[in-house]
Amino acid sequence: MLRTHTCGELRAEHVDQQVTLCGWVDTCRDHSGVLFVDLRDRYGKTQVVFGPEGGAENLALAKSLRSEFVVAVTGKVALRPEGTANPRLATGQIEVRCRKLEILNRSLTPPFQPGATELPGEDLRLKYRYIDLRRAEMQQTMTLRHRMIKIMRDYFDELGFIDVETPMLGRSTPEGARDYLVPSRIQEGTFYALPQSPQLYKQILMIAGYDRYVQIARCFRDEDLRADRQPEFTQLDLEMSFVDADDVIDVVDGLMARLAKEILGREISLPLPRMTYDEAMERFGHDAPDLRFGMELVDVTDLARQAGFRVFRSAAESGSRVRGINAKAAAGRYSRKAIDQLTTYVAEHFGAKGLAWFKVEEGCKLASPIAKNFSGELLAQIAQRFSAEPGDLLLLVADRFEVTCKALYGLRKRLGAELKLYDPQQMHFSWVVEFPMFAPDEEQGGWVAVHHPFTTPRPQDQQRLAAEPGKCRAQAYDLVINGAEAGGGTIRIHDQQLQQQVFELLGIDRQAARDRFGFLLDALQYGAPPHGGIALGIDRLVMIFAGLESIRDAIAFPKTQRATDLMTGAPGQVDARQLRELRIKVTR
Ligand code: AMO
Ligand code: AMP
Repeated sequence: MLRTHTCGELRAEHVDQQVTLCGWVDTCRDHSGVLFVDLRDRYGKTQVVFGPEGGAENLALAKSLRSEFVVAVTGKVALRPEGTANPRLATGQIEVRCRKLEILNRSLTPPFQPGATELPGEDLRLKYRYIDLRRAEMQQTMTLRHRMIKIMRDYFDELGFIDVETPMLGRSTPEGARDYLVPSRIQEGTFYALPQSPQLYKQILMIAGYDRYVQIARCFRDEDLRADRQPEFTQLDLEMSFVDADDVIDVVDGLMARLAKEILGREISLPLPRMTYDEAMERFGHDAPDLRFGMELVDVTDLARQAGFRVFRSAAESGSRVRGINAKAAAGRYSRKAIDQLTTYVAEHFGAKGLAWFKVEEGCKLASPIAKNFSGELLAQIAQRFSAEPGDLLLLVADRFEVTCKALYGLRKRLGAELKLYDPQQMHFSWVVEFPMFAPDEEQGGWVAVHHPFTTPRPQDQQRLAAEPGKCRAQAYDLVINGAEAGGGTIRIHDQQLQQQVFELLGIDRQAARDRFGFLLDALQYGAPPHGGIALGIDRLVMIFAGLESIRDAIAFPKTQRATDLMTGAPGQVDARQLRELRIKVTR
């Protein structure tokens, strides 16, 4: 080894030892003939001093140092002089007095300083990712990610799960996104699809008797990207045989408790709370509610029916809903103008036709331009339904159930942040269970699978699958952390006929089902055990545990919103010869 210690290691107890450190030049400060250099590696920073005692030649060489040069310095550890210790640095009590400097490599002037407090634009960070990854925050996140994955592997190993790798080159799997395709050279005109998840392979593994499977699996989905989505991401993927939903949930509960304890030093009590999908939509308007704060949705449709206010009454009479939230003690914070902005927000983002509001005054009187359209008695009932107290602000939407869900979910989320209703450090884990099996297909009519087509309905819903598909609930469960979907899974169909029936409901006819999933339909007839599983998004988990805003900060080499890699330039052009071999013609 070139080095005796890392740049984060030396303390007062090392004083007088001769050491060699290797690292990158973080900063240089020239103090009339004495040069101070902060040397950095992924373990920390150490101050190195170049003075006359190291010899003129050494000092002259040191003066040629620039940011990001890679050097080896040999010298003695010394206590920093009185009053110059740096309590913010782990090595802040000591410095290394350099007697021998070796420049291992020079650096061009970096496009930004990894040690700077001010972050450069993200494009620059992604283009020079090797510089960006030198930043302490990135190194901490990558280390955290490694530790989380290690904990996962250990946990599942202790429970008897085995890790089985599944192919990258396979058939298209139906997770609902677009596939990334890979042309086959040998079978002209045919394509592999990169896996959107190992879903079908893990089910096949259950049929093959590998009753506890786990994998840290790469997944590929060509979909529109958001702050918490990447085209290429990593799942903690697992599957179990002879289990029900509770068994899968228990295993993941245990993992969350272990991660919370080992990563955050927090105890979380198990079992994690659960609510059904229907309850989540009623109480929060969304299937991944943020439970770090209250402000639940309140329904006043029955009261609205009696209102003189036309908007409310006609909504109630036509089967729509009138629901709202109570922003506690927020009446003073939102002026008319601010409420107008909230109205524009729900209209533009969620298609709400308006936002009705009341400010709660002394004696719980409701004040609003629309108050004159309600009897005093009715206003009192509305106030009571919202548990209104003086100073509260009530915000209501009258619309179709779906619109009230979206608008009030958005409003609750926005107000929760604006009113600082939760501590961003806080963590809340919960489960949402019993999702619908199917959702109406907005584009083509018919139905789409809410999770995926291999999901089994609740036993009580099996009989009415064909008659009332929209009302059937699945044996499905999502893990929700701080209002984000961290994972999702289901108990699978292990009966070939039921699988066939679900395919048909989804408009996948017999021939199409045979073409795409024939191997699964066959395998289901060779002794398929009852089974189920789940996949957690590792990038999202890291994001949540590290408190990051963007999924890109949880990934070493992420892609931009436009699915490009700014460092390598992928996706890029290929040689004409490669295309000829693949018999592919680019027509653009
Ligand atoms: P699902 O599609 O819900 O289920 O994915 C599981 C989890 O993976 C994460 N995730 C993503 N993370 C980053 N970028 C993306 N584009 C992305 N898409 C999904 C989410 C999500 O909760 N095979 C099933 C699982 C099963 O049924 O066992 C599946 O893939 O955190
Ligand atoms: P208007 O009757 O359009 O003048 O609206 C009177 C008030 O009711 C305004 O504050 C609107 O924002 C609000 N409003 C209109 N439509 C709705 C609706 N569908 N839900 C809730 N409030 C509404």
